[in-house]
Amino acid sequence: MSDFEKKITEFKSKIKSSTKIEEIDSLRSDIFGKNGIINLEFKKLGALSPEEKKSFAANINKIKQELLNIYKFKSDEILNKDIIEKVEKEKIDITLPEKDFIIGKVHPVSQVIDEISCIFSEIGFSVEEGPDVENEYNNFTALNTPENHPAKDMHDTFYLDKDMKTLLRTHTSPVQVRTMLKGKPPFKIIAPGRTYRSDSDQTHTPMFHQLEGLHIDKNINMGHLKGCLNYFIKEFFEVEKIKMRFRPSHFPFTEPSAEVDIGYRLENNKIIIGEGDKWLEILGCGMVHPNVLKNCKVDPKKFQGFAFGIGIDRLAMLKYGINDLRSFFECDYRWLNHYGFDPLDVPTNYRGLSR
Ligand code: DAH
Repeated sequence: MSDFEKKITEFKSKIKSSTKIEEIDSLRSDIFGKNGIINLEFKKLGALSPEEKKSFAANINKIKQELLNIYKFKSDEILNKDIIEKVEKEKIDITLPEKDFIIGKVHPVSQVIDEISCIFSEIGFSVEEGPDVENEYNNFTALNTPENHPAKDMHDTFYLDKDMKTLLRTHTSPVQVRTMLKGKPPFKIIAPGRTYRSDSDQTHTPMFHQLEGLHIDKNINMGHLKGCLNYFIKEFFEVEKIKMRFRPSHFPFTEPSAEVDIGYRLENNKIIIGEGDKWLEILGCGMVHPNVLKNCKVDPKKFQGFAFGIGIDRLAMLKYGINDLRSFFECDYRWLNHYGFDPLDVPTNYRGLSR
């Protein structure tokens, strides 16, 4: 028996008797690693004649395959055993007495995020996420926000370092940047999430929620934006018709930019959406500025599109008749019990969003 064959027999029996994944992992590098026995054996090929090489290499490959199979079999066996043990250990006793059990409720903000995601997914938007802790570039510079823009002022932004390079994102727009930088156009995404600004009164909290939308393709224009928002608002408020108006506005990252108001009237202090002559601002939007596309490695000569940013908390307040934004974040169980949603009643397009 050659030295190689002896080692192989030895490894086979070692693998078979192993009981821990770490043990067979270290055996794996001894066998298949760069300086493992298989590679060392392959190195002998150089000294052989062409005919000898063929059968010699075929033999090593056969042994290699056999060892791989043994290794795979053993590692599956160990992993399965680990999983079974874990499942056994983590078994939940579902026979707990029911009488002390308090049913939790889904927070209106989570509910509204689910509803909005549901509406946009129906027309081909997928959901993206970004981190709450952002860098200055994604939050401002890449979005074409000039150095002296008021939003960059210390007053609004929570900076996390002296150099003002890391911050709590002030809007969900940096997810546009992240999405474009990591992929190739077309893009059709929404991005819900937490946002932060140093502001607090009845209509502002230091942490609030936004939802970003971005649709970039070859021929996307403001008509698409209008159609998309019109559809969204109708679906969201579950009404047949709505009144919507675009007011010219300014955002550094869009050109042209607009703010969107929806028409409503009050009846016994209740807001009725879609009728009346009062207007309520609900979102900002526009055509993505060519500079933003360039900063995100998208060619503005070939691609264009729209973006929008919606205040989620505001929509939740409107739809569910909640009048103080601060109550959202007070964690008062009585409040949540009243305004919250049944966890089993997940919003779907076919069953209805909020019923
Ligand atoms: N990021 C803006 C804000 O927080 C909202 C916004 C406006 C987002 C226009 C957009 C947009 O994507 O196109 O105030």
